[in-house]
Amino acid sequence: MKNIILTGDRPTGRLHLGHFVGSLSQRVELQNSGKFDEIYIEIADAQATTDNADNIEKIRQNIIEVALDYLACGIDPKKTTIFLQSQVPELCELTFYYLNLVTLSRLERNPTVKQEIKMRGFKTSIPVGFLTYPISQAADITAFNANIVPVGDDQLPMIEQTREIVRSFNSIYGETLVEPKAVLPENETCCRLPGLDGKAKMSKSLGNCIYLSDSPEEIEEKVMGMFTDPNHLKVTDPGNTKNNPVFIYLEAFAKEEHFKKYLSEYKNLDELKAHYEKGGLGDMKVKRFLNDVLQETLEPIRKRREEYQMKIPEVYQILLEGSQKARKVAFETVTKVKNAMGINYFEDLDLINQQTLKFAKSKGDNTKNN
Ligand code: TRP
Repeated sequence: MKNIILTGDRPTGRLHLGHFVGSLSQRVELQNSGKFDEIYIEIADAQATTDNADNIEKIRQNIIEVALDYLACGIDPKKTTIFLQSQVPELCELTFYYLNLVTLSRLERNPTVKQEIKMRGFKTSIPVGFLTYPISQAADITAFNANIVPVGDDQLPMIEQTREIVRSFNSIYGETLVEPKAVLPENETCCRLPGLDGKAKMSKSLGNCIYLSDSPEEIEEKVMGMFTDPNHLKVTDPGNTKNNPVFIYLEAFAKEEHFKKYLSEYKNLDELKAHYEKGGLGDMKVKRFLNDVLQETLEPIRKRREEYQMKIPEVYQILLEGSQKARKVAFETVTKVKNAMGINYFEDLDLINQQTLKFAKSKGDNTKNN
């Protein structure tokens, strides 16, 4: 069996550090490992319309931002197909048939969808398209025969839903679709980076993000203003590193080389943490170190982004070619699906013969009766 990766993002904003540790850096590693036969990254603009029907402009504006963030992080269009969901209409066709394999109550039980409904204040006015987006996500995954879906843990319910659809489809219509597996980031901190304000999640709507495209000045200002341990008032106070976003970010980004270069009194993060916990280490010093680490990490990403920003038509061309390639593959899957379901009438010579015989026979019967 081929190893095929598919993953994606809704283009509703620029990507931030949470995306970087949670998925982007892993995608680049997977891409460069050379272990995969095909890799697809979908910009899920159609899915983004399910809760932005009245603000398509936001999606239009952010497609290019997300594409630039991908390219900036090292997604290479020669190795990875980047495509736009809306430009692959075959995905809608698959969705239409999968809709029949899922019950309303099953959709209503999806924990991620439930939480999103609460967050968006839909209450009882839930758009049908929104409630059913996990089914369309199953189409995204199965259209490319993906067996591996690298995602954050909030997407696990979608992968589970996809697996159920695949099993249901295959048991009714015969072995056709590939059952995918989710792959989570290895390290737990990486699953969910807290916000600058210490809130559970870095999220655009909470305004607590460092964006991959932030300037060096913006990064510094944000780091220096970060929430830390509210009880660590004096330098001499013992501090808490556990729920302290500054230390969580260091956990995600600081390497031993960074200590050598910027903070050589400490060998590694364990030593720095021990000092902070004992007391005698001030927040400013830790923040300045975090700033150095983030500046070093983000500089090459920002530089590459700036290069692509100078050639926007070329970036749209990458998306166009990716979408054309994705369409070919999705069409093959739709053809297989329709064959399996028996809705390929015009190629089905058996069916045409059978119908011919049926009516020839009934005509014969009629003549006899007369
Ligand atoms: N639901 C994902 C998100 O909100 C985006 C997405 C759409 C996706 N289709 C996908 C992710 C297929 C993985 C696989 O970010």
